[in-house]
Order: sequence, then structure tokens, then C-alpha cells
Amino acid sequence: MSKPFTLAEGQPITDPSVSTTLPVRGGGGITTLGDTLLIETLSHFNRERIPERVVHAKAAGAWGEFEVTNDISSLTSAKFLNGVGKKTPVLFRLSTTGGEKGSADTVRDVRGFSVKFFTEEGNHDIVGNHIKSQAPSRYKPPGLDDDLWEAISRGQFPAWKLYVQVMEPEQAETYGRGLFDITKVWSHKEFPLIEVGQMMLNKNPENYFAEIEQAAFSPSNMVPGIAMTPDPMLQARMFAYPDAQRYRLGVNYTQLPSNRAICPVYAPFERDGMGTITRNYGGDPNYVRSSLSPGIPSQVVSEVRHTERIMQNAVLGQHEILVDEEDYVQPRDLWNRVFDENEKRRWVDNLAETLEDVPIQLKEAVAEMFGKVDPRISQMIGARANASSRL
Ligand code: HEM
Repeated sequence: MSKPFTLAEGQPITDPSVSTTLPVRGGGGITTLGDTLLIETLSHFNRERIPERVVHAKAAGAWGEFEVTNDISSLTSAKFLNGVGKKTPVLFRLSTTGGEKGSADTVRDVRGFSVKFFTEEGNHDIVGNHIKSQAPSRYKPPGLDDDLWEAISRGQFPAWKLYVQVMEPEQAETYGRGLFDITKVWSHKEFPLIEVGQMMLNKNPENYFAEIEQAAFSPSNMVPGIAMTPDPMLQARMFAYPDAQRYRLGVNYTQLPSNRAICPVYAPFERDGMGTITRNYGGDPNYVRSSLSPGIPSQVVSEVRHTERIMQNAVLGQHEILVDEEDYVQPRDLWNRVFDENEKRRWVDNLAETLEDVPIQLKEAVAEMFGKVDPRISQMIGARANASSRL
């Protein structure tokens, strides 16, 4: 189907590669301020780039669907997780952590994993990391963008399962500080994985910028029935992501197609601002308790209350969580009980590679730290360092 060229506001044009000029003798021409086509294209071009994400800048993404496969209605009232067979549209973004947009995705790096669930109770986001246990970079893992895109276009839809772990409040009270610490895991034996559902990606973006670059994921996007944990890292992130997005995409980023909720949104206390593309609540009053306002309290939220029990005699102040023996217990288990000899060697190889250009005193400090996990690790790091300095 052919599409006649127009200006940005739809006025038809014959040839976008020609400008309005006053020809002069000897060739050439003088351009005019009245050439809207020329001015519009030049100024739009200058504004094509937006600030890239400070971290996780490089990525691939796709659309898909999440389906509940196991009934967990006894654990949460979140509607999108209730009812086996229930489906929710999702947007997914897979990123590298440290590199900028143009960087290679073949170097060893933590992968970011973001999912936005478009639920009937508003958007729910999961924004997590995934540390690949991968061979050193010289073995070149497959590329990020091409793989996902090609698999989906071949009809080989990638799928992931979602599981949760459950702890009773009484157990939580005595569990210790590993409870809400992102550097710790809950034992799978003690708290077995419970299946929830499956996400399948089935549609590539048609335009990367519009659909993936402008996507805004945040751990602060939570639906009723799911609440934040008292983890200071999570709370910092709940501010940091939307703040980055207001800067990166503008204050009305929630109205962009990749981010807008599929349920009704009524927040007349947030209106105007650059790039408003909704009705902007028409003539509704700002004042939310006005009898003239159509806004009413949501029933759902008053039924789903989440409370925290604060420590007795707690003091608001700067509390540092110091690294102590407890921080070495899980890494030691990983080293001794999970890794086989081959994985141990690969892991030391990976680490040693990142230490190659590091000053000697830092190398020693790293070896000493890992020695607290197991003395053999520091020996292996030392041996690797000696071997490479002889090369
Ligand atoms: C306090 C610590 C952290 C801060 C301040 C922080 C901040 C940020 C910011 C500002 C962005 C860019 C968001 C955007 O521009 O749209 C981002 C992206 C991201 N972060 Fe963090 N982060 C932190 C820790 C973490 C942790 C612990 C994880 C994993 C559990 C994580 C996973 C991600 C992912 C996956 C993205 C990419 C989001 C996307 O796909 O758009 N971050 N982070």
C-alpha cells in the first residue's frame, strides 16, 4: 500500500527531498524561512536523540502474554494472578547492565530482565537481574538483539516460568537479616518454589525506539495484593526509576503507548506538563474532595491493606549494615556444594579476567575477600594472576 508523504500535521507534500529556494545566477539557491518542510525536518532531526538510560542502556524487547498456570489465590488477591488460564498482556525488555547503547553485548555482564504486566488493576512491573553463569567472553555468547528478534519472527516463542517462595509471618520474624537482603537467597529446600504462571513472547516491536526505548519499567509499579518489602535498596529504586524516566522521556511518560495502563486511569491531580496526549481530564476539578469531582475512593485498595510492624523503640538514624560472617555463608555453600570442579575453574577464570588491569593492592584485597569464602579461591586467583603475568 503506498503512502503519500505529508508534513507532521498531515499537509500533503510532493517531494520531501526538495526545498523551496530562490535560484541565483550561476547555480545554487537561497532558502526561505517559509519552507516549513525544511525547517520541520532539520529541527526534528536535531531532537531525535533522547538521554539514554544511565544503566541498562542496551537492550532488546518484545511483546507477549502471561498465563496463570497454578492457583495462588490463597497467597495474593492481585487479580492478574488469580484464576488458572487467566491471560495478561506483557511488554518485556532484556538488557545489559553496564554498557552504553552502542556497546557490545558479547562481553560478560549481568543481564537485566524487565516485564510490564498490563493488568485490569493498573500496571505491575518486575525489574530484576540475572547473572549468567557463562564462559569467559572469548567464547562469545549469542547477541542480545538478533537472537530474540529472530526466534520470535521464526515463530519460536521464548517462554519463562514465574515462581514464588512463601514464608509465614511468624517465620519471618525470627529469620534474620537475610530476609529482605537482595544479596541473599531463601533456601529452596526450606521454601520450595511455587509455580505461578508462564510468560511467552510472541510479537516483535515494529519500531524499537517507540516501543522499547520509550518503555519505562519501575519496581514502584505494583498492583493491589503485592506490596514492597522493607528493603532500603528497593525503596531507593522505587524513586530512582520513575525519576530517570521523567528526565529521559518527560513528565508524561506514563501516557506513551508502551507504558499506558489498559484500565481506566483517573488522576486529575496530575495533569498538564510537556507532551500531554490524553484529554487531560477535560474540565474536571483538580480539588479531589470536591462534591463536583467525579472521583471516588477505590474499593479495592480499602479492602487490601498492607501494614508493617515497626521494631519496638526503633530510632530513625543512619544505620549501617556491616559485612560480617553471615555474608560469607551462602557464597561458601555455592562454592562447596553447588559448583563442580569445572564450574569452579570457570568462575575463577571469569573473575581473574576482570582483575587483569586492576592495581595490585586491589587485586590482593579481592583475593583476600574471596579467601574468606574459601581459602582455595584466593590461592586459585593468585595462581591465575601469576600465570598471566608470565605471559
Ligand atoms: C539502589 C540501587 C539501584 C538504583 C539506584 C538503580 C537505578 C536504575 C535506573 C535509574 C535505571 C534506569 C531506568 C530508566 O531510565 O528507565 C535502572 C535500570 C535497571 N535496573 Fe536498576 N538500580 C539499582 C539496582 C538494581 C538492582 C538491584 C537490580 C536488579 C534486581 C536492577 C535492575 C535494573 C534493570 C533490569 C534495569 C533496566 C530497566 C529497563 O528495562 O528499562 N537495578 N536502574
